[in-house]
Amino acid sequence: MEEIKITKPDDWHVHFRDEIILKAVVPETSRHFARAIVMPNLIPPIVTETQAIEYKKRIKKAIPKTDKFKPFMTIYLTETVNRKQLKEAYNNGTVFAAKLYPAGATTNSDSGVKDIKKIMPTLETMAEIGMPLLIHGEVTDKAIDIFDREKKFLDTTLEFIRQRLPQLKITLEHITTKESVSYINESNKNLVASITPHHLALNRNALFVGGIKPHNYCLPILKREIHRKALINVATSGNPKFFLGSDTAPHFSHDKESECGCAGIFNATNCLSVLAQIFDNYKSIDKLENFVSINGSTHYGLKKNKQSITLIKEYKPVLFKKELLINSNSIKVFDPGIKLFWKIKS
Ligand code: NCD
Ligand code: ZN
Repeated sequence: MEEIKITKPDDWHVHFRDEIILKAVVPETSRHFARAIVMPNLIPPIVTETQAIEYKKRIKKAIPKTDKFKPFMTIYLTETVNRKQLKEAYNNGTVFAAKLYPAGATTNSDSGVKDIKKIMPTLETMAEIGMPLLIHGEVTDKAIDIFDREKKFLDTTLEFIRQRLPQLKITLEHITTKESVSYINESNKNLVASITPHHLALNRNALFVGGIKPHNYCLPILKREIHRKALINVATSGNPKFFLGSDTAPHFSHDKESECGCAGIFNATNCLSVLAQIFDNYKSIDKLENFVSINGSTHYGLKKNKQSITLIKEYKPVLFKKELLINSNSIKVFDPGIKLFWKIKS
């Protein structure tokens, strides 16, 4: 048996939803992670400080007493966001960052931004106060092929923002392409990226080969193997500009296995085992700690966690529950398509 001890990880991109789903999924994250950035794409979205405070209370209620876990709240940017209130929320410490969803880009993004110019004054304020901007980086133009939407976003919207506000702290979230890796590497220190376990584990064949696989459908959509390899190379290199944001995004199975299936993969339950296995398979287990516990907190100017966790490599594959059951509904746990030998020592 092999064992490694690492600083307790953080997850810099999670969806907790609300009510019964929230109660079921929060413990899956709080069990192994010390902190997480919580996405605001509820219905209705979290657009004010008061909503963020109330949502945080509901999350805290769902954390098991035995877990020490801190949720960091975000505000959903709309074209009518109030700059003064956003600044206050950030300065009060109730809100950690703001999230930019191009309108229509993903789940519950209808209230997002259609015209980036409309929020430039807000982004200016954020740059002044040091408030991080988290971006879902895909264009929504129907003429652009779904597999090219992230690349197009770099060349248009992201370039537009960065030319004007190079000092703005930006996280390009859940990156999926080799072009994003290069773009981040070539930019200044204020632009970084998060990467999900599913984009490290799967390429787009996992959506279509042998039948359509709605449980592997997420946005940005899985890409070709060449892109997955670029993500693997950079994640396992220890490069401080890249870190974990799991994008764990629960949907009921019946909503994914549908005529118009929801985008989002729920991976909180086995996230760290999947990552340990991938890093191990690429002979880089020594870089896991940088990716899951160090790079993100350094970028966000936070201290690394004092606690640690121990990962153990078993001789036999470790089995995880395949689904969370909520009343009579199920949320499927991510299947990475590889055997997992790593587990967290409790
Ligand atoms: C996320 C969700 O379900 O809220 N879905 C997804 O496919 N990743 C939204 C998001 O992060 O894009
Ligand atoms: Zn997300």
